[in-house]
Amino acid sequence: MIKNFAGKVALITGAASGLGRATALLFAEHGAKVIVSDITIDGGHETVKMIQDKGGDATFIECNVANEESVNTLISKTVETYGRLDYGINNAGIGGIWTATHKYPTDNFEKVMAINTTGVFMCMRAELEVMTKQGSGAIVNVSSVAGLSGFPNNVAYAASKHAVVGMTKSAGLEYAKKGIRVNAVCPVFTITPLVTGMFDVIGDDMKDKLEASIPMKRFGKPEEIADAIVWLCSDASSFITGHALPIDGGIMAG
Ligand SMILES: NC(=O)c1ccc[n+]([C@@H]2O[C@H](COP(=O)([O-])OP(=O)(O)OC[C@H]3O[C@@H](n4cnc5c(N)ncnc54)[C@H](O)[C@@H]3O)[C@@H](O)[C@H]2O)c1
Repeated sequence: MIKNFAGKVALITGAASGLGRATALLFAEHGAKVIVSDITIDGGHETVKMIQDKGGDATFIECNVANEESVNTLISKTVETYGRLDYGINNAGIGGIWTATHKYPTDNFEKVMAINTTGVFMCMRAELEVMTKQGSGAIVNVSSVAGLSGFPNNVAYAASKHAVVGMTKSAGLEYAKKGIRVNAVCPVFTITPLVTGMFDVIGDDMKDKLEASIPMKRFGKPEEIADAIVWLCSDASSFITGHALPIDGGIMAG
């Protein structure tokens, strides 16, 4: 893997926690300047401090990805701060409630779509605007195995993550000749606050069944997802675009 991102600028949404934080730390470790963005202010500053404590360069910018003005301000402040944008990691997302499809409330469905789908769309659109002018860039959208297969009792989450794959493929094709690559990662359950919160709801029995259903018989680690995201931004993946990469201990091979 080419690990030298010196002089490059990476923006990660949802970087106050979980996969986003792990990805921000890894980009900084590889020499990128990092914009840590999140709706959660304390956690965002914590991620920045973790990077700075290791000698890295990072800045926190608050953003609600479901709000168009907030997203556009995030991108313009990123360029103001570091002068360019090389990597856009559209990671911010929520889980949605767990209930049967015939009981699923419209307001929750719309909330999940606003953050997980429209949020990714608006971030990607603003990132592409900058990257098109630069003539270079790489975007990684964070989907899920629930973006590739059904997810019983969470219709909103599955719909939102399938849409992310559709947007990734479309943009991948559109910008393929313009020096910009657009890919997605599709993780299975990975131990982050989002998933531990879900385990609290579904209980230990179901958690054990889920773990047993993964061919590698374990959940993912945030660092394993960050590794794939950083690789998808590196020159080591220079011929890959429009791809939705499962990171799933083998589950999608079944
Ligand atoms: N952990 C998993 O098992 C898993 C699996 C597949 C996909 N994902 C996806 O990975 C991404 C990160 O999830 P995670 O597991 O690290 O969860 P997490 O809850 O640890 O982190 C999500 C972050 O997104 C932020 N966020 C939520 N709403 C936001 C908004 N409107 N604007 C800006 N930021 C917002 C939260 O504040 C939080 O810091 C999500 O898109 C999630 O759907 C996670």
